[in-house]
Amino acid sequence: MNHWDVVVIGAGAAGMMCALHAGYRGRRVLLIEHTKRAGRKILMSGGGRCNFTNMATGPQHFYSANPHFCKSALKRYTPGDFVEMVERHGIEPVEKAPGQLFCADSSQPIVDMLLTECSWAGVELRLSTRVDEVDVHEAGVRLATSGGEVVADRLVVATGGLSIPTLGATGFAFDLARRLGLAVVTPRPALVPLTLGEPWKARMAALSGLASEVEVRCRDGRYREPLLLTHRGLSGPSILKASNHWWPGDEIAIDWLPAVEDIAASLRQARAETPSRTPAGWLGERLPKRLSQAMTEWLVPEASFDWQMRLSNCSNRQIEALAAGLSHFRLKPAGSEGWRTAEVTMGGIDTAALSSKDFSVKSHPRLHFVGEALDVTGQLGGHNLQWAWASGVACAAAL
Ligand code: FDA
Repeated sequence: MNHWDVVVIGAGAAGMMCALHAGYRGRRVLLIEHTKRAGRKILMSGGGRCNFTNMATGPQHFYSANPHFCKSALKRYTPGDFVEMVERHGIEPVEKAPGQLFCADSSQPIVDMLLTECSWAGVELRLSTRVDEVDVHEAGVRLATSGGEVVADRLVVATGGLSIPTLGATGFAFDLARRLGLAVVTPRPALVPLTLGEPWKARMAALSGLASEVEVRCRDGRYREPLLLTHRGLSGPSILKASNHWWPGDEIAIDWLPAVEDIAASLRQARAETPSRTPAGWLGERLPKRLSQAMTEWLVPEASFDWQMRLSNCSNRQIEALAAGLSHFRLKPAGSEGWRTAEVTMGGIDTAALSSKDFSVKSHPRLHFVGEALDVTGQLGGHNLQWAWASGVACAAAL
């Protein structure tokens, strides 16, 4: 049978969710995926344990040119709704950080659950199937695929964004949108590690694997989270979150000791109480050893300063300079690791062209876009998957 009520392109988080809900509504649904496996990004997510939702999800955790667009769908399908399905399938959510729910061991049960639900709902899944042509007209939709021609009443494009091409990401949704005259907010890699040029690249590479809680600031973003030093530059939650604010040419500022409220006051107190200690010794108690040693080479407040001198010999000016260096450490990243490792795509199809109720394209009502392909990007912590689930369900309710 080549005529379907609904064809969904992309068997990722949003596509599977949309397909199964449309199937339960009695629609004959075909789900097309160009790779050999469904839900590959879900499998990789959350460090292999899938941070499948965040109980605090709300519009305030999303970036979009229209911050109101995501409200309706997020309200209609909540984290609690997804948890209900997860628990019904015997998956026990593990709260690793406040509100962030993960699988206990592996993401596989989430993909299995979605595939099971798709099969219960009567969805036909066609893997390794390429879509070569899409023709959306008033009476319906016609697709030319590597498995032959397919006709449908409605088409849902759930092919995601551009991040991680090796997991199946393509610009399919953006190309189709542009071809139909829809605006696309320039996509850029987000939640992505930042790279450094020399000499900082070599300096960080020598400390690769070290992590420390810091506060990273970039434009209006400010995140107190762990920072990880890597062979290419900087990563870890603080940097991934800050990367959403970073544009080429921007500097970032790092406070290496966010737990110390006033570094200069703390150093002056140490000078008064333990005058024979050295600045290097003081720092070594507050940062990982190798990092604090490196810092003594990177931070030389003035020529007359010696990290091994006694605190009693440090002037107030030297202490102020040291404190400023530690709390306003400025770096200019050379770039980001790009689509190769970015967790999400910032930007995407401009939501102005779509209905926030059913995700249909106003100028082509038989066509819908859901999930990450849209200009709706969640912060780190389970918000992006919750958006995929919620947008898929909201769209299905109108199919
Ligand atoms: P998604 O990318 O999931 O699915 C798109 C599907 O379409 C894919 O199966 C793809 O192969 C297919 N496709 C693409 N082009 C096609 C074409 N031309 N024809 C047919 N099929 C096509 N989020 C979160 O909330 N918690 C987390 O823990 C993580 N962790 C995480 C880790 C890593 C490494 C990454 C890369 C991403 C995350 N994310 C995340 C983000 C989250 O995975 C992402 O936002 C959602 O999977 C997006 O869901 P979509 O269904 O929109 O796209």
